[in-house]
Amino acid sequence: MAIAVNSFIKNGHKKILELGVGTGLLAEKLKVLAPEAEFTGVDITSSMLDIARKRLGEWGKLIEADVYIMDLQETFDIAVSSRGVWVISQRGDRTDLGNHTNEIPQDIKGLTNVAKHLCQEGLLLLSVQGEHKSHQQNLPTGIVYSQEIEKIGENDEIESIEKSYFFKKDGEILAQQKLNLNYIKQWKKEEIMAQAGFSFVSIHESQKFHVYRKK
Ligand SMILES: C[S@@+](CC[C@H](N)C(=O)[O-])C[C@H]1O[C@@H](n2cnc3c(N)ncnc32)[C@H](O)[C@@H]1O
Repeated sequence: MAIAVNSFIKNGHKKILELGVGTGLLAEKLKVLAPEAEFTGVDITSSMLDIARKRLGEWGKLIEADVYIMDLQETFDIAVSSRGVWVISQRGDRTDLGNHTNEIPQDIKGLTNVAKHLCQEGLLLLSVQGEHKSHQQNLPTGIVYSQEIEKIGENDEIESIEKSYFFKKDGEILAQQKLNLNYIKQWKKEEIMAQAGFSFVSIHESQKFHVYRKK
């Protein structure tokens, strides 16, 4: 994902906004690949931002805000959500929109707000994610990430799960969060993206993210 985002940076899209920067894993890679980028990461969870700041040192701007209602008073060339606030959920041959709220009007408002933070023809990159399953994963610097998943509802537009995740080091919890995550079904996703002011451009050749352009 970072290599692909870097290819956009090298093509002149230097102002990057990450939606749900978390502990800064993507940002850390961008810092190495494209130190010249003007990077801003937004996250709603201060404990995530504390870890991200340690990871990034002085590089980049980190802002505690809710992406749905943030008002950063500037525009960006690219907004990227890498396992962040919105994702493309690959579920068999369906590509749903994964999010954290089952209020579709809120998503339209949130994505419209993202469009407001993009310059003319700015791009929105949404990472592709496999179906959520309970699992545990070792991250660099001895941190262990784990998540637990439970299905909590479904209708013709949306399916909802509850995801609990933890970052631990030597058994001690560094950060934890419980989120509702929804799969907005593919047909509805296209409608929402259009209503929020985005048109679909392509699936990146890496297959790792979908590219939308502000209309
Ligand atoms: C899996 S983590 C992101 C990982 C990160 N992009 C990376 O590459 O390391 C998802 C993040 O989204 C954040 N998040 C969820 N809803 C949000 C919202 N409405 N506004 C801002 N951040 C949000 C969570 O706090 C969490 O840190």
